[in-house]
Amino acid sequence: MARLNLLEETRYEKLPVTVYPDQKVASIAVARRIANLIISKQKAGEKAVLGLATGVTPIGVYAELVRLHKEEGLSFHNVITFNLDEYYPMKPKAPQSYVTFMNENLFNHIDIDKSKVHIPDGTLAKDAVAGFCLEYEKKISALGGLDLQILGIGRTGHIGFNEPGSAPNSGTRLVTLDDLTRNDASRDFGGKQNVPTKAITMGIGTIFKAREIILMAWSGKKAPIIKKAVEGEISGDVPATYLQLSQHVEFILDQDAASDLTRFGTPWLVKDCVWDNMLKKKAVIWLAELLNKPVLKLTEEDYNNHGMAQLAVEQGPVYNINIDIFNQMQHTITGWPGGKPDADDSQRPERALPAKKRSIIFSPHPDDDVISMGGTFIRLVDQGHDVHVAYQTSGNTAVWDDDVLRYMEFAIDFNQSIGDDNTHLQKLYEDMRAFFATKQPNQIDTIEIRDVKGFIRKSEAISGARYAGLDDDHIHFQALPFYETGKTKKNSVGEEDILLTMELLQKVKPQQVFVAGDFADPHGTHLVCFNIVIAALRRLRETEDWVKDCWVWMYRGAWKEFETYEIEMAVPLSPQEVLRKRNAIFKHQSQKDRAVFPGDDAREFWVRAEDRNRETAQCYDRLGLAEYQAMEAFVRYHF
Ligand code: F6R
Repeated sequence: MARLNLLEETRYEKLPVTVYPDQKVASIAVARRIANLIISKQKAGEKAVLGLATGVTPIGVYAELVRLHKEEGLSFHNVITFNLDEYYPMKPKAPQSYVTFMNENLFNHIDIDKSKVHIPDGTLAKDAVAGFCLEYEKKISALGGLDLQILGIGRTGHIGFNEPGSAPNSGTRLVTLDDLTRNDASRDFGGKQNVPTKAITMGIGTIFKAREIILMAWSGKKAPIIKKAVEGEISGDVPATYLQLSQHVEFILDQDAASDLTRFGTPWLVKDCVWDNMLKKKAVIWLAELLNKPVLKLTEEDYNNHGMAQLAVEQGPVYNINIDIFNQMQHTITGWPGGKPDADDSQRPERALPAKKRSIIFSPHPDDDVISMGGTFIRLVDQGHDVHVAYQTSGNTAVWDDDVLRYMEFAIDFNQSIGDDNTHLQKLYEDMRAFFATKQPNQIDTIEIRDVKGFIRKSEAISGARYAGLDDDHIHFQALPFYETGKTKKNSVGEEDILLTMELLQKVKPQQVFVAGDFADPHGTHLVCFNIVIAALRRLRETEDWVKDCWVWMYRGAWKEFETYEIEMAVPLSPQEVLRKRNAIFKHQSQKDRAVFPGDDAREFWVRAEDRNRETAQCYDRLGLAEYQAMEAFVRYHF
């Protein structure tokens, strides 16, 4: 039986959930709990038996444990660990192995006795796996069971590698990985084809026996699966829902991972709310979408039947609320993303003056500008604004190797045709071919190969920006150093990244800045690039007057659009403009047909962009506003 829940606000939640403002604070709290357990066991002269997880989620916890060891003397001499899982087959020394992960993130930096560390063995012969798994279970039982198990959660709802279909009483065993899980791991392995199809994992039954279970999740990417795990029916389709049956489990989330839970996503269903404008907009749009009605047709009864009676009473009559929200949405629509000259701008998203604005579009990768806001980009240029574009990174990891050879062959042929000496180029070309012939998944390319890949993307970006109407001196390539590692794992942001961005901003002195405002992936290049621009503007604000008149507009990358209630500027595109945008995206040939990093969406980038812009327009239409072909959406960033 699951625990009793006495709170109205959390009545949809079937297990205890604690929400922290961000993952750093949450990770420190979890590390503290682990440390307290270790210390209390030490005082009692006992061992602490920990179940550990890998993945990006627990990294902050391990970092804090290392800090506690180094700075506060926390000792791990009495600690015994069992890791949840390991890929199969997998050599312990491989960079993607969970042995490597655990050593690099924890074990190499603390005083644990390595003979007390247990991680499923990915090198076993197939017929030895079952025996090994049984032994793993026995070892845990012989030690009296796990004192504490920490977990992450996969987007399939897996815990450990217990994918959908796993049984609640499953033990440690060999399993087949879900397709989505292999997609999520593909970056680490340099392509999905290199991700093992199997893994050895502790079972749900094994996890259940732990005396305490903490599942952690960070970022909006996890919000949908967290809602299912916490509020959904118990089902093998979402293995984490089995945790609802435990008396000893707690979910520890950051705000973003918790954002779809009823008390945060649709709080009016579970409590009285303070109805600020944003919440009102969110609720009314939610209600209209739920009932498939235009905003202006929502009735008092609709409000009352769907948890919005309080709003109706406090701010009604509901028709006035409907009109207010309708008007607000209406005012987000503008065909003048740089402001409409000589027009009353009191209800428009952008200022009328100056009539000709200096605008700069920051594009994290060389094609985000046209994919995400190609229509608006073209409009700004057409409407006479002084538009610049800055490509923040080279994007050189996302080019196929055979494209490099193609361009090298082109260069050699050209050199030959004009009678130039090809010796050096030919030698480089031969070296590249030899390198590719033995290249391992995720192996870092030689500097020359990286350069060629960067040049390919650079030439495509120039072509796209020229197509949008820019002069060459308005196209900037930043090649920010944080990105240029040659690997999918990037460096942290450095002073140089910010200084380069400040320099460019100071040169352009824009009145409008467009940035990619993608927050769902905390490790994603888009968020890093966003933070760099904001840091640069913040610093410039201290000394430069022009920054005070500079508005920052966020667009979303190829993945997820803003929620409708968040949109502050919706730029409609005619069918003709949609085609122009498509052509601009087509200039990025290296990303067409089959991108190196497509993510878990099989559609090409231009298709995703068109689908998304069409969906935004359809949503406005459904809510009772004008019917357009497509719309690009923006939200303003306020300092
Ligand atoms: C890791 C494990 C997995 C991860 C899950 C989330 O040992 O068993 O269940 O916890 O896939 O991964 P991240 O944390 O990378 O999002």
